[in-house]
Amino acid sequence: MDISSLRNDFPTMRNNRGVYLDSACQSLRPDSVIEAILGYYNEYPSCGGRSVHAMGSRVSMAVDAAREALAGFFGTDDPDCYVFCKNATEALNTVAFGLSLKKGDTVVTTDSEHNSNHVPWLVLSEEKGTRRRYAKTTDEGELDMESFKESVEGGTKVVSIIHASNVTGCVMPVAEISEIAHDAGAKVIIDGAQAAPHMKVDLDKIDPDFYCLSMHKMLGPSGMGVLYGKSEELATLRPLSYGGGTVGLATYDSVKLTPAPEKFEAGLQDYAGIAGTKAALDYLSEAGMENVEAQDRKLMRQMVRETEDVKGLKLVGPSDPDRRSSVFSFNVDGLSPHDTALMLDNIDGIMIRSGLHCAHPFFEGKKIGGSARASVYLYNDAEDVSRFSSALRKAAEAFGR
Ligand code: ALA
Repeated sequence: MDISSLRNDFPTMRNNRGVYLDSACQSLRPDSVIEAILGYYNEYPSCGGRSVHAMGSRVSMAVDAAREALAGFFGTDDPDCYVFCKNATEALNTVAFGLSLKKGDTVVTTDSEHNSNHVPWLVLSEEKGTRRRYAKTTDEGELDMESFKESVEGGTKVVSIIHASNVTGCVMPVAEISEIAHDAGAKVIIDGAQAAPHMKVDLDKIDPDFYCLSMHKMLGPSGMGVLYGKSEELATLRPLSYGGGTVGLATYDSVKLTPAPEKFEAGLQDYAGIAGTKAALDYLSEAGMENVEAQDRKLMRQMVRETEDVKGLKLVGPSDPDRRSSVFSFNVDGLSPHDTALMLDNIDGIMIRSGLHCAHPFFEGKKIGGSARASVYLYNDAEDVSRFSSALRKAAEAFGR
C-alpha cells in the first residue's frame, strides 16, 4: 500500500484540511466513493426494486452489486444475508427488538459496550423483563474470559458483544466467544463497528448469528450501515418497521412479508449510499485489509513511542500498542479531554475526539471521567502522528500539571 499516493485519493488530504485523527467516529472518503454517490444522483436518481424502466433497473442492479460486494468482502456466500440500514446502531436495535425475547430471557454483554449495544438491551429489560448480565473486562479493557464463561452459564439466550472497543481498541476473541455462546445455546450478535473497518473479518470463521457495522467508519457514506444475519435467523427476526418494499402481498386484513433482506428495508432506500458502500468496499479490497491493519499497527506503535514521556500522560487501555487496534485514548493531568482536543486543534489543526465516546458504561465501570482519543486509518502517515505527538507535548507542557 503506497500511503502517499493513496492520500491523494482523499479530497480533504489533498487540500490540506488538517490532521484528521478521528476516523473511529467517521472516516474520510476517497474520490471513488464521492463519485459513486454523485453518479447515482447525476445518472440514475431513481428507485430500486419497483420501477422497471431503465433507470429503475440500474438502481436495482446497483443494490444487488453492493450486496454481492458485501458477501465477497466478509467471506460469506449469500448476498441476501446483508440488510442495508442507517448504521450499526440501527442494526443492533433491529436485532434486539426483533428477536421476540421474553421475560426472564438472559442477555450477556460486557461492561465495556458502546451505548448502541447497551441501551437497547437496557430498554428491552425495562419493557419486557429480560435479564442482563455483564462479562467483565480488565482494567486495560481486555475481556476476562473466565467472567465471560461464568456469565453465559445457567441459560443464556443472547450474547451481544463488541468486536473492538472504540475506547481502548481492544479486540475481543470473537470466534472463541461465538463457539462458547453457541455451545451454551445462545445466539451471537457482534457489534463490528470498530473492527470491520480495520481488520479482515471472515464471518464464516467467526460464525456469529448477526454482525452489525457502520459504513461511515470504513470510507463509506454517512448514515449507511449493514446488518448481516444468517439466513435462518433473518427468516424469523421481526423487522423494526413495515411498509413499501417489505410486503409480498397485503390485503385489508392480512400481510405476507417479503423474504430477507427486503423485509427489513421499509420504504425507499438510500440508493446513493448503497452505491457508495460498494465503492468503499472496492477501495478497501484493493488496498488489502492486511495492509490496513499493518498501517494502523505501525502508527499506533509510533504514537505510543513518541508520547511516552509527555508530561502527565495517562493512557486509557493497553500500553502495548499492538493491542490497541487503531485508537489511542488518553488523558493529560490537569487538562479535561475537551480542553486537550481544542488545544490540539488550535496548535496545529489536529482533529481528535473527546468525552465519553458513547461508551458510558466503560467509563462508569473503570471510574474514569472521559478521555481524549486519537484514531488512525489507512490514509494517516508518520507525519500526522509526529504532528499529533508534538502538539500534545506542547499542550501538556504549557497547561498540564
Ligand atoms: N461511536 C463513534 C465513536 O466512537 C461515534 O466516535
